[in-house]
Amino acid sequence: MLEPVKVGVLGLGTVGGGTVHVLQRNAKEIARRAGRGIVVSHACAKEINQTHPYSVDDIVLTEQLTDVVNHPQVDIVVELLGGTTIARDITLQAIANGKHVVTANKALIAAHGNEIFAAAQEKGVVIAFEAAVGGGIPVIKAVREGLAGNQIDWVAGIINGTSNFILTEMREKGSEFSDVLAQAQQLGYAEKDPTFDIEGIDAAHKLTILASIAFGIPLQFDKVYKEGITKITQEDVQYAEELGYRIKHLGITQRSEKGVEVRVHPTLISNKCLLANVEGVMNAVLVESDALGQSLYYGAGAGALPTGSAIVADLVDVTRTLTTDPGNRVPHLAFQQNALVDLPILPIEDIETAYYLRMTALDKLGVLAKVTQILSEQQISIEAIIQKEPLCGAPHVSVVILTHKVVEKQLNQAIQAIENLEGITGEITRIRLEILDG
Ligand code: HSE
Repeated sequence: MLEPVKVGVLGLGTVGGGTVHVLQRNAKEIARRAGRGIVVSHACAKEINQTHPYSVDDIVLTEQLTDVVNHPQVDIVVELLGGTTIARDITLQAIANGKHVVTANKALIAAHGNEIFAAAQEKGVVIAFEAAVGGGIPVIKAVREGLAGNQIDWVAGIINGTSNFILTEMREKGSEFSDVLAQAQQLGYAEKDPTFDIEGIDAAHKLTILASIAFGIPLQFDKVYKEGITKITQEDVQYAEELGYRIKHLGITQRSEKGVEVRVHPTLISNKCLLANVEGVMNAVLVESDALGQSLYYGAGAGALPTGSAIVADLVDVTRTLTTDPGNRVPHLAFQQNALVDLPILPIEDIETAYYLRMTALDKLGVLAKVTQILSEQQISIEAIIQKEPLCGAPHVSVVILTHKVVEKQLNQAIQAIENLEGITGEITRIRLEILDG
């Protein structure tokens, strides 16, 4: 058997520790699969997280990133720094040194992937990023390789576990958003600064990557529509339930004749569809493709061992390709670099979908009639409507309307006109609604 492949890990936190643990625990099985051993020879870490039992006895530890990426013995660098500044510089340096790179850093790939892949292609090295989307779920491999014979129509995924946990708790326990967020922080699901998770940025990073490998387009994080879950109220969760739907935070990318939609936002989906039943911190990605039809990829979207599982799978893949001609490797974005097409990314105003609208109306003759008249003037057809009797003595009632599909621009005009009505108080809550299962 060949000498073991030597890996340098940048960061021994939760994911780094999980990766070393998986490599050591399953060393024999991994070597049987890869054709040679894979060992961590170097690691850069200020602190070592040893929640998982693994040995650092044979690892050269350093606090300097360059000690790892410049070391001649290191064949593959595992980048687990997070962020996009130092991570970008050090990744480009590793590439320049002829090292292959495995990363879990979705922000890095979404923001700088085009540049990084071009540099890697030039140097004949591989950048592997299975852990960047869906944690341990092998969804990159499935979409990039398993569906290579298909034309992909759309992808819809629950790709942020923190948001899914919060929405699940809100529905199951009847809690308010801010209370569940505090709980998620206590449990370690949400960061102290939870912005990336709850404002849809983390999901947008992941969706950027999925859109590229599904449709063969360059990575374009800036053009993704991003909306988080901060405005979802208990009232909306309950109305959705009553109407047979659940609110999930979805990343959706879809190709049409006009271009590609890439959008992240809370979405009503039927409570019968499989995605609606993905609960807690779990992730799932649903893909519609022409030959296979629908396929669903489900599993743990974060955590030391699940993410370690994805990183080690990448290490095995890279190890196998060490001896292959760089021209014959799986392209980073699924399609050959020179076959990527710059399809237009559609602005959110151009998407067409159905909507949930909730408004506060004066309980007075003719108010609802005016609302429905505005919708009809904008060619917006109503699918369902709920108006509860007012709480005793209250002058206002909540009105909830589900619409049929309409172009968002048209809906915006209707919303503006309805908000201007004398009988309507405050802003209208609007949540997009998708029919995913046929
Ligand atoms: N913060 C992410 C989530 C996990 O909540 O899904 C890592 O991608």
